[in-house]
Amino acid sequence: MATMNPFEQQQAIPGVKRIIAVSSGKGGVGKSTVAVNLAAALAKRGLKVGLLDADIYGPSLPRMSGTLHQKVEIGADKKLIPLERFKVKLMSIGYLIDEDLAVVWRGPMLFKAMDQFLRDVAWGELDVLLVDLPPGTGDIQLSLAQKVPLSGAIAVSTPQDVALMDVKKAIDMWARVQVPLLGVVENMSWFVPPGQTERVQLFPKGAMDSWLRERGIAKIGEVPFHPGVGIGAEAGIPVVEGDPTSDEAKAFSEIAARLI
Ligand SMILES: Nc1ncnc2c1ncn2[C@@H]1O[C@H](COP(=O)(O)OP(=O)(O)OP(=O)(O)O)[C@@H](O)[C@H]1O
Ligand SMILES: [Mg+2]
Repeated sequence: MATMNPFEQQQAIPGVKRIIAVSSGKGGVGKSTVAVNLAAALAKRGLKVGLLDADIYGPSLPRMSGTLHQKVEIGADKKLIPLERFKVKLMSIGYLIDEDLAVVWRGPMLFKAMDQFLRDVAWGELDVLLVDLPPGTGDIQLSLAQKVPLSGAIAVSTPQDVALMDVKKAIDMWARVQVPLLGVVENMSWFVPPGQTERVQLFPKGAMDSWLRERGIAKIGEVPFHPGVGIGAEAGIPVVEGDPTSDEAKAFSEIAARLI
């Protein structure tokens, strides 16, 4: 019997030049925050940007982009019309299903949903489609890598060694599916308490930098912890839009510049 190549169903999305995944092995490190701010920062630099929330079980994009309770419409070509904010085209399961309802699906349904998000959305012409992934190295990550050729992946982490463990897993996963790792974004790198100027380390700085250096993996950004980032996420206005001159907005903007 011929062995099946799991990547043979890979198909580019017409009009979409690059697809980049935002990932991490660990939950809650700021993937969605990085994805939304990076998308807005890339759009500010003139790129045509799409952002797909691939966190089917826990979509964050509707809240973080101020599109909560909005629903998408279907165009004449039977494709879903993405929403648009901050000049970024947005798609999330939250625009199809009531936000408060739990999605209780097994693998095959997930694969199908991913297929629809990639093929049945009128993405149009895009320089880059960012995909915000759920934490871990499971069905959704694999499904994405199988369905479309990814230009690369970004791994998001926090500085401490318990997070490094999960970065290693994410890096290993992308290597196995032959997706180039564009680099690591370190989030919540430092904090400047109100009224002070000295940086405080929120998490103990671990062996991440030396580990990455030894393997020739780039650190493409360090984002400070700032309450404004979280407030922006809750209010649906990413900090690069709401407070563009802040250090945290600049950090996202620099990552965008590096990616370009
Ligand atoms: N740099 C930051 N400064 C302050 N708060 C932050 C920062 N980055 C993320 N947060 C907050 O931390 C929480 C987790 O962030 P986020 O949802 O982006 O993480 P995630 O990795 O996408 O989580 P999940 O694994 O659940 O998808 C959010 O409340 C967010 O507002
Ligand atoms: Mg998330």
